[in-house]
Order: sequence, then structure tokens, then C-alpha cells
Amino acid sequence: MQNNENLFEVKDLVVEYHTRSGVVNAVDQVSFDLKKGEILGLVGESGCGKSTLGKAMMRMIAKPGKISSGELWINDVDLLKLSENEMRKRRGSEISMIFQDPMTSLNPVQRISDHLLETIHTHEPKEKKASALERTQALIERLGIQRQRIDEYPHQLSGGMRQRVMISLGLVLNANLIVADEATTSLDVIVEAKLVDQLKEIRDEFGISIILITHNIALVAQIADRVAVMYAGHIVEISPVMDLFDDAKHPYTRGLLQSVPTTILDEREELYKMPGEPPNLSNPPTGCRFHPRCPDVMPICSQEIPVLQETTEGRFVQCWLYQDHPNKEMSLDGKVS
Ligand SMILES: Nc1ncnc2c1ncn2[C@@H]1O[C@H](COP(=O)(O)OP(=O)(O)OP(=O)(O)O)[C@@H](O)[C@H]1O
Ligand SMILES: [Mg+2]
Repeated sequence: MQNNENLFEVKDLVVEYHTRSGVVNAVDQVSFDLKKGEILGLVGESGCGKSTLGKAMMRMIAKPGKISSGELWINDVDLLKLSENEMRKRRGSEISMIFQDPMTSLNPVQRISDHLLETIHTHEPKEKKASALERTQALIERLGIQRQRIDEYPHQLSGGMRQRVMISLGLVLNANLIVADEATTSLDVIVEAKLVDQLKEIRDEFGISIILITHNIALVAQIADRVAVMYAGHIVEISPVMDLFDDAKHPYTRGLLQSVPTTILDEREELYKMPGEPPNLSNPPTGCRFHPRCPDVMPICSQEIPVLQETTEGRFVQCWLYQDHPNKEMSLDGKVS
């Protein structure tokens, strides 16, 4: 059962990849909620589990991966309890995902109109072709693509247009959640800025929620309402966007923000480089997974995993700096550090 304000609730989600070199804990006990009409930025270094989390929310984890446990609540239904057939109906109609390269999701020998009409037909078999076509044309136009281009093939459109076609595939069935995984990464900065503005407009007009997975922190600052920071399969901080930029709590978030240029055109700016690398997720560090790289590490950090806890209203951090523990200041041999 979920809270009314929330569109989506993820509870204790665990996703593993079973590889030859062991089990990769790509998403480990992740819990968060997404409000109706909210844009949530999901950030973190490469390999920390962002795409895995996004795909898991659509139940699109393919072998050797598997969702081992957890709950995914949308509109009072736990998606993990649905049959694959029931899930297929919701994928696209209720939740839809767009990726960096839309060419891999669009069929090169099908016109844009075929993609959209087929999507409508699959989910709404009773809809007449003429009205479905009118609907798709109006939507494409709304997204800034001329009506007549609906008869073209994916390769005839620009990268930005293809992304908008992908968005339209979700909107045409009134999806209420779009997960955009690096969807703007391959676009040039002007097209990217336009698409981002459009995502915001779409949210305002259609009231949908968006998860924006990106390496572009500036983009998150511009568009997101809240930000979730992932590190090594955990969400280590969730916060309203401005609070996060004003006063990041988790040492990892601080490092991540410090490594972003503040003056884009000043090439002389010396950027902070976070020491070390994210861990191998088939053998993650004990305790807090960030402890080997953390400038504020304490003895407890390598011994126990902190929980993601609310520090001040709406701000959640998974870090021992903000949590009490009887042995917080003690090292393993009992000495105070
Ligand atoms: N199909 C797969 N088989 C085995 N391991 C995988 C597979 N897909 C992802 N992983 C592993 O899961 C972890 C998380 O990967 P994921 O792609 O979710 O990260 P990400 O945060 O999206 O990274 P990026 O920013 O580079 O896109 C990584 O350790 C990765 O090696
Ligand atoms: Mg990814």
C-alpha cells in the first residue's frame, strides 16, 4: 500500500547480476519514492547502478541479471507481483523508458507513424485508425516535429527528434512515469537544452513524473525537483535540488559536486578529482561502501552499513556522520579515535 502523494514507491530493491566472476550487487536494498509530477535526477559515477535501477523499475532486467527482492509500488500495485503478461501491458502505457540511443529502440524499417500506431493498437485495440493517427500527429506536433514527418523513417530524423519520438511513445498512452537514461547525452548542447525544456513542459502539461539519469549535474540543477545520489549500488543521499547544491551532506555528494566546473569557459579552473575509484560490486567494501575513499572516515564506517535516514525534513543521508552509534568514535580495538 502506498502513500497517496506518491506515484511510485521502491522498497528494499535488490538487483544482482550473476556473472562468472561472482554475483554483482548492482542495486542493494534501495528504497525511495517518487511524487506525482516530480522530476527526480539520479546521479553518480559510472557503474554505480543507475541504469540497473531504472531498468528494474520497468522490470526490464535481462539475464544474467535478476531482481532478487523488493517491492515496486505504482497505483497501489506491486509490479513485482504481476505476471510478465500483465507487466507488458503496463510497460509503455504506465511507465516508459528512453535511452541514450533511440535507434536501438526504434525499428529502422518502420515509419514513425507505424511505431506510434502499433503502440496504440497493442494497448487500445478498439481505437479506430483515423483517430489514432490524428492523436499521434497532434502529439508529434506538440513535441515540435512537423506533422508530415510522421511518415519518415527513424534515420531521416535528427537525434533530438528521435528522442522526442521516444517520448511521444510514452505520452501517446498517457504514461505517468518516464525514466530517461542518459537520454540527452548524445545531443549537442543547444538541442539538449531544448529537449530538457520540453521535458519540463511535458511534466507541467501532462503531470507525469520523470526520472532523469544523467552525468550532467548542471542539467539536474536546471530541471530536477529532487536529486538522488547513487554510490556502489546504494542511494546515499536524496534531497530537494537546491538544498543539495547549497549544502551537500554525504561526503560522496560533496566530492561529486566539487568535480563539476563552476565556470564552464574558464579552462584554467582546477577541478577536484575524487581519489580512488568506485569498488568492484562483486566484492564491495564492508560497512559503508564509500569508506575507502571518504575524507571523513571513522572506525565504524568499515564495520557497519549506515541506513538512509532523514536528517532534516525531506533530506535523507546514508552516512555515519549523521547517525548515532555506541561505537561511533571507537576503533576495533576499543580505543577512541
Ligand atoms: N548485463 C550485465 N551483466 C553483468 N554485470 C552488469 C550488467 N549490466 C550492468 N552490470 C554491472 O552492474 C553495475 C551497475 O551498472 P549500471 O549500468 O547500472 O551502472 P550506471 O550507473 O548506469 O553506469 P553508467 O553511468 O556508466 O551508465 C556495474 O558494476 C556493471 O558492471
Ligand atoms: Mg547507465
